[in-house]
Amino acid sequence: MNNYKQIVPSLLSADFAKLEEEIRAVEKSGAKRLHLDVMDGHFVPNITFGPIIVKAIRKLTDCHLETHLMISEPEKYLKQFIEAGSDTLLFQIEAGQNISENLGRIRELGAKPGLVINPPTKFEKLEPYLDKIDHLLIMTVNPGFGGQKLITDVIEKIKRARPLADKYNFRLEVDGGVNLSTIEQVDKAGADLFVAGSAVFGDSDPGRNFQQLEQRIKT
Ligand code: DX5
Ligand code: ZN
Repeated sequence: MNNYKQIVPSLLSADFAKLEEEIRAVEKSGAKRLHLDVMDGHFVPNITFGPIIVKAIRKLTDCHLETHLMISEPEKYLKQFIEAGSDTLLFQIEAGQNISENLGRIRELGAKPGLVINPPTKFEKLEPYLDKIDHLLIMTVNPGFGGQKLITDVIEKIKRARPLADKYNFRLEVDGGVNLSTIEQVDKAGADLFVAGSAVFGDSDPGRNFQQLEQRIKT
């Protein structure tokens, strides 16, 4: 049994009118991390929430909060999202102007820094930063919406990242289209964290859904 591997529920697909209940349901089933998707309607064609909601979620849970910034000019908002309670702060490699500086700043501000790479972006773009990150998030859909289909071409990127994650000691996470039918392929490719939004919160039993996914990665 590998306790290092974890399912990370994405609240994007949760019912925000009963957020506390949704969080308790996955906590009861053993969730230790939550994934918060911040979208600005500019970097991606959808808008979600900002630091005020991250702060509210922080009050509801002791789970490790990883905030995934799908926003332009992330450098402007790093401090706000860390002060709101993000334990890990992830920004898109396609959006950052001063990537090394941003990673250093996140660390200085007391959070774990990480990068996110979209399906069309070349893996080589990450190379200068591999020794500066605690976390690499590989998008297996084009970001912006929950409930999309996993793009299987990206699995090669996960395989390529696995030995580098061991060498440089960062967590390797996948995001997008992870469900009971796809989790095995991304698990085999070497991910150790698995974001799941609609597969967890898509029906009335997030606790059970979380457990079923966890079983798949812990056998
Ligand atoms: C998509 C977000 C994901 C989203 C995943 O842009 O970054 O975190 O919540 O949703 P599912 O698991 O439904 O694909
Ligand atoms: Zn995400």
